[in-house]
Amino acid sequence: MSLMEPLLAIQDLGIHMLTYEGRARVINGVRLTIHKGETVALVGETGCGKSITAKAILGLLPPNAETVSGSIMFKGRDLLRLPEEDLHGIRGSQIAMIFQDPSTALNPVFTVGEQLTDVVLWQGARRATRGRRVTGAVRQRCLEILRLVRIPDPEGTLGRYPVELSGGMRQRVLIALALVGRPELLIADELGTALDVSVQDQILLEVRELVRTGGLSVLYITHNLGVARLVSDRIYVMYGGEIAEVAPAAEVFRRQLHPYSQGLLAAVPRLTGRMGEGIEGRIPDYVNPPPACRFEPRCPFRMEICSLNRPLLLEAEPGRWVACHFHGSREESG
Ligand SMILES: Nc1ncnc2c1ncn2[C@@H]1O[C@H](COP(=O)(O)OP(=O)(O)OP(=O)(O)O)[C@@H](O)[C@H]1O
Ligand SMILES: [Mg+2]
Repeated sequence: MSLMEPLLAIQDLGIHMLTYEGRARVINGVRLTIHKGETVALVGETGCGKSITAKAILGLLPPNAETVSGSIMFKGRDLLRLPEEDLHGIRGSQIAMIFQDPSTALNPVFTVGEQLTDVVLWQGARRATRGRRVTGAVRQRCLEILRLVRIPDPEGTLGRYPVELSGGMRQRVLIALALVGRPELLIADELGTALDVSVQDQILLEVRELVRTGGLSVLYITHNLGVARLVSDRIYVMYGGEIAEVAPAAEVFRRQLHPYSQGLLAAVPRLTGRMGEGIEGRIPDYVNPPPACRFEPRCPFRMEICSLNRPLLLEAEPGRWVACHFHGSREESG
């Protein structure tokens, strides 16, 4: 693997879900790269395919999903084509995920110490063994990671069950569980959304610090563009199972190239506490998606070509990519 090669590279990912209504063409040609030490945010409204993309990376798609195209290269190997036992080895140890629903992610019958120990010993196998004493170097590693995520009283916390912890502490334990195996890539799906805003901000900033000091790469999934800017270096804006725009985090805020990103930014809650305007309408029907540009039915700038040709994701400026006919024609006329 060369120095310039990304740690993770998703190319032309296509995933269909087999449903009662028919074949839902959910993920349609998604492309995404993450370099070593980089935090990439995947942003988009509910149902746009963020979690499905994350689950595809880990080989944890639901049984009714069918991968119809693409590759997911991680350190030179295509995760979509690895045998399950190899993927199992990668999950938890090289790639760790913090799932969207924190209440289901901790096992209620094992103590924090037991759950951490199992990740250390089996690198992600998560076969907690009840009543095993946490000793020696493993115990030191568990304490070290609890301190790192700023759990007060780490010693006492090792012996506690998840129900004995507050929501904020449970979230920290989940981060500790994800980090204790020293992964190279962390996937965090809506981290902290279930928490108070102040606690959430604090946790986000702490993860950012861990990333900075640890050389970790992160895929950060959120519906909130404001959160994405706070935590990430680059932002991928997703719409209807496709990538609409890619840009450095600060630049997306300055100027959005895709009309959907403009709407998404307007939906970020203002400092006044009022919600922005947002975007009229809802995500496409994946069984019968719009034939060309999937955003066309909702787009204030739509033109004839938008329902005829699918816009390709093209580099509009150095480091900025957009899939939009309107942007292309605007550049030509300007
Ligand atoms: N097991 C499944 N069977 C059929 N359709 C599914 C399944 N899981 C997800 N989908 C559909 O795939 C689409 C993308 O789902 P996904 O969970 O990736 O959305 P998301 O972007 O993570 O949304 P949210 O912000 O609400 O978490 C949605 O329309 C969803 O209904
Ligand atoms: Mg999701």
